[in-house]
Amino acid sequence: MKITLSVLKADIGSIGGHITPSQALVNEVTNFVKENGKDTLIDFRISYTGDDIAILCTHEKGVSDEQIHKMAWDAFIAGTEVAKKQGLYGAGQDLLKDSFSGNIKGMGPAVAEMEFEERPNEPFVFFAADKTDPGAYNLPFYLGFCDPMYCAGLILSPKMSDGFTFRIIDVEYTEKDKIIELNAPDELYDIAALLRDSERYVIESIYSRSTGNQAAAVSTTRLHNIAGKYTGKDDPVALVRVQGEFPATGEVLAPFEIGHLVAGFMRGSHNGPFMPCKQNATISFFDGPPVVTGAAYCVNNGILTEPADVFDHPFWDYVRTQVSEKASAIRRQGFSGPAMLPYSELEYGGIVEKLEKLEKKFKLVD
Ligand code: 13P
Ligand code: 13P
Ligand code: MG
Ligand code: MG
Repeated sequence: MKITLSVLKADIGSIGGHITPSQALVNEVTNFVKENGKDTLIDFRISYTGDDIAILCTHEKGVSDEQIHKMAWDAFIAGTEVAKKQGLYGAGQDLLKDSFSGNIKGMGPAVAEMEFEERPNEPFVFFAADKTDPGAYNLPFYLGFCDPMYCAGLILSPKMSDGFTFRIIDVEYTEKDKIIELNAPDELYDIAALLRDSERYVIESIYSRSTGNQAAAVSTTRLHNIAGKYTGKDDPVALVRVQGEFPATGEVLAPFEIGHLVAGFMRGSHNGPFMPCKQNATISFFDGPPVVTGAAYCVNNGILTEPADVFDHPFWDYVRTQVSEKASAIRRQGFSGPAMLPYSELEYGGIVEKLEKLEKKFKLVD
């Protein structure tokens, strides 16, 4: 059966700052989707990561379907009403447009979708991150799909020996989607040269070269490119099909052990290590550290199993301790150097006015 897997996610309000949505908000979105998705959706799951709530769903309408996107938009509007009533912080934060216009992309919420013919067994992982931007997935997905040091299947499985095609988007260009397709392993250095700059070049999707089938989809929204000012971090979601012609689940997870430094953290303006956390993780230290959660599922005829929490394992407790050490280390240098993002990333915030004022006070002296 050909199905579409969609995840639509937004920050529509949270308790006590940018921490976690309230139970009433989660219930409202759940009930809304249950009621309004009953004619279109095959199945759905609601979850949250930090202050972001996600609707994961299956249907037969293809990607970018207006009906599906409108239903999600309306669910986020309904959730926002509850957030307002409860006085939640940042009610409706990610809903950047006044009315729905055909596609939720470019309106604030993050979207990742894939349409595919189901394999006889169809495992996939749904990743959701908070307090970071979409480039956070560049390194782990590069390593998980291109590097035999992390993905043993590239050596051991004949189904993967042709490698993968990466579609990479230049998120700085906002008129249209500006995309390049590069093949691993042939163009590995070109892929690395782009993914290095994770604020600008972001993995949008990945395909198996032996079958042409899609392996991964990442949400690529940069909120500041839509709003023209800082309105919260993008907090990206991703869907990754695993096993068979794709990397094994554990190969996709392996690079998350690094806890690499990503942009985000406090006020979306710092670098911090990417911490793999359990489902429904909240946010704490310095509005972070940036977190990623992973829910693994199988799907059959569009019906989803219950999720398996991929980072709920003693190994990841050890990783979280190490990542915490890394977070402390970089936080001890406050605003200095690479601890805070460069001006080009901060220019959507208040620092612009401050520097303009100071510029006038500079004097040219001999
Ligand atoms: P099983 O033999 O348990 O299916 O595992 C194979 C595999 O892909 C491990 O990564
Ligand atoms: P969110 O993007 O998760 O709302 O976080 C915004 C922020 O400024 C945290 O300090
Ligand atoms: Mg928020
Ligand atoms: Mg968030």
